[in-house]
Amino acid sequence: AHQWRGVIREYADRLPVDENTKVITLGEGGTPLVFAPALSELTGSEVYLKVEGMNPTGSFKDRGMTMAMTAAVAAGAKAVVCASTGNTSASAAAYATQAGLKCAVLVPDGKISMGKLSQAIAHGAELLQVDGNFDNCLEVARKLSENYPVFLVNSVNPARIEGQKTGAFEVVDYLGDAPDYHVLPVGNAGNITAYWKGYKEYCSEYTNQAGEKLAPVSTKTPIMWGFQAAGAAPIVLGHPVTEPDTIATAIRIGNPASWKQAEEARDESGGIIDSVTDEQILAAHRWLSSREGVFVEPGSAAGVAGLIKQHAAGNVPAGKKIVITVTGHGLKDPDWALKTEDGSPVAPTKVEFDVVSVASALGLS
Ligand code: F0G
Repeated sequence: AHQWRGVIREYADRLPVDENTKVITLGEGGTPLVFAPALSELTGSEVYLKVEGMNPTGSFKDRGMTMAMTAAVAAGAKAVVCASTGNTSASAAAYATQAGLKCAVLVPDGKISMGKLSQAIAHGAELLQVDGNFDNCLEVARKLSENYPVFLVNSVNPARIEGQKTGAFEVVDYLGDAPDYHVLPVGNAGNITAYWKGYKEYCSEYTNQAGEKLAPVSTKTPIMWGFQAAGAAPIVLGHPVTEPDTIATAIRIGNPASWKQAEEARDESGGIIDSVTDEQILAAHRWLSSREGVFVEPGSAAGVAGLIKQHAAGNVPAGKKIVITVTGHGLKDPDWALKTEDGSPVAPTKVEFDVVSVASALGLS
């Protein structure tokens, strides 16, 4: 029976690998593109969610990590390192395990969710909690890889971007062409860079590793809409943020490594990079779970929050195809679901071990 073989084997034609490459994969990619009825009704457009929480470690990072870890093995590396707000570390730890490499992860102390922390620990990574934010962690990880025999697997490594561009390929392969808009959260800005690269490659003639020319797959590229958290919105503000702050810890980043590439994606596509408040992010998080049936972590809801914000401002035309990448699984950071809108805890209803009290608690008679 056919099983999805992971993004490297599925898209080998368009990635820097050949038949001799030892592929490190957990079967990432092939994630569902889910029609979102409530968002579609709101906007009058056809809105789809690219549900990246369905990847092996629960986030889109796996698409890049299969490539980065495969490159690390090809380079003869013995150890890898990354800085992370959590998802990259979970992914690196898992893929390094299969590759048989040591893995060190640098995370901001106290600012990563328990789900992500437990993944890195479960996979046996050397977990260092740094007294600083993500930007500080990335600076140290880069220096470590420059001065010691350690391979960097952050998205400043081009292999990561190559792997992540397959998200755009899948959207086009499923829809039959590129959507009109592609919406996503922006943190370190690797993913918007990768999607834009993927969309551009699929829309033009492409010369692969073997020198063969591949015909264009799509007729157009989408308008790219990226959204940062308001307390961590350097690209929107036009300057680095030294103390980034947001409940969406995944995108709590003040000086994105791929800043310039994100601006290029915005400008070349005629798009925007805008910000959304924590309240808007949590409202979108709630919308996704209660109206679309899709459970994501808060940072993943920033794209949806952005679409709702832009719709309210009258900027979302009807009759378009809109794809929103929801980047990570809700179980990564489940606490947010256990609070009501005003922040008070959700208390489960207690009942007697008795069918009449259960029925009455459910309002049945
Ligand atoms: N959504 C989630 C769930 C993320 O974990 C990240 C980034 C982003 C969105 C933003 O993507 O950085 O490519 O712009 N997480 C990184 C990490 C920084 O360390 O896990 P980006």
